[in-house]
Amino acid sequence: MPLVSMRQLLDEAAKGGYGVGAFNVNNMEQIQAIMEAARETKSPVIVQASRGARAYAQDRYLYHLMLAAAELYPELPIVLHLDHGNSVETCKSAIDMGFTSVMMDGSLMPDGKTPSTFEYNVQATREVVALAHAKGVTVEGEIGVLGGIEDGHGAGVDALSHVTDPAQAEEFVKLTGVDALAIAIGTSHGAYKFAKKPTGETLKMQRLIEIHQRLPKTHLVMHGSSSVPQDLQDVINQYGGELKPTFGVPVEEIQLGIKNGVRKINVDTDNRLAITGAIRKVFMETPEKFDPRDYLKPARQAMQRVVATRMQQFGQAGHIADYAPISLEEMARRYAQAAKA
Ligand code: G3H
Ligand code: 13P
Ligand code: ZN
Repeated sequence: MPLVSMRQLLDEAAKGGYGVGAFNVNNMEQIQAIMEAARETKSPVIVQASRGARAYAQDRYLYHLMLAAAELYPELPIVLHLDHGNSVETCKSAIDMGFTSVMMDGSLMPDGKTPSTFEYNVQATREVVALAHAKGVTVEGEIGVLGGIEDGHGAGVDALSHVTDPAQAEEFVKLTGVDALAIAIGTSHGAYKFAKKPTGETLKMQRLIEIHQRLPKTHLVMHGSSSVPQDLQDVINQYGGELKPTFGVPVEEIQLGIKNGVRKINVDTDNRLAITGAIRKVFMETPEKFDPRDYLKPARQAMQRVVATRMQQFGQAGHIADYAPISLEEMARRYAQAAKA
């Protein structure tokens, strides 16, 4: 199957009432882990690359690895998505490279750190929507500012200081025409999300519900959705790591989000933890080993287990054969037709 638009995947997820995990990648092993998990669970796939990932792996390596994935797993609908595009130019370069979906994160200025104005966000996102939709490519926008910081990206603010205003979210979607909207409801990127075990009050789920009521046709996106499971932390610390005590987003909260319009769930940290724990274990238990395959293979398997588990929990498992792929050309034609109507 060719790479497909994220819009199609999320429209189908909305029809089926399930969510789709979007997993970050930087290398071949992570892509392989996701693809195997998807085959095992019969799940549609969203693979996402950040600016940092694109710089680390180089666009062409990433793109060709994804073409290999599409060739090797023809039964799976696969999206290649740009995570946290910081400018129109970054999004354009991803579209030119063959990404089938881009995020224009105009909640921050192009430095990826400074919270922007609503006007700036609307203007940059509109530009990306025009460029992307002309090619049938999906656009995710963001309104509100997430907590934390990743690879230099993020305002480093407290997770609850810039939660999304529902009226502003509605206005933003009307003005930009984005397909999917990332909202801030108290999550943050990285491993250190909450110092105490979150309760049902920790995340601002009422806001999410209100946003979904105002925007029933917009696919909502939850960033910073790693659950930071204790067992993955324990493996790292058991084998010489020094993670401080921390809590992530409970899966039940994500599932409540999915019941209320969340269709894309971003997960990176859980996979980083799984990979690091598996590698540490090999290094500690068998320090004589030096063939990278001896530690990359268990690392890949550990990530596959996390991804397969999330695919089951988000409800995307078993949904690969529900629909035939729509080409990007056809998506572009539909956007053009909708704009005329
Ligand atoms: O947005 C955050 C993702 O975890 C990607 O992280 O920018 O370090 O690649 P990164
Ligand atoms: P986590 O750090 O919680 O995995 O979030 C990843 C993310 O939101 C990528 O955009
Ligand atoms: Zn994110």
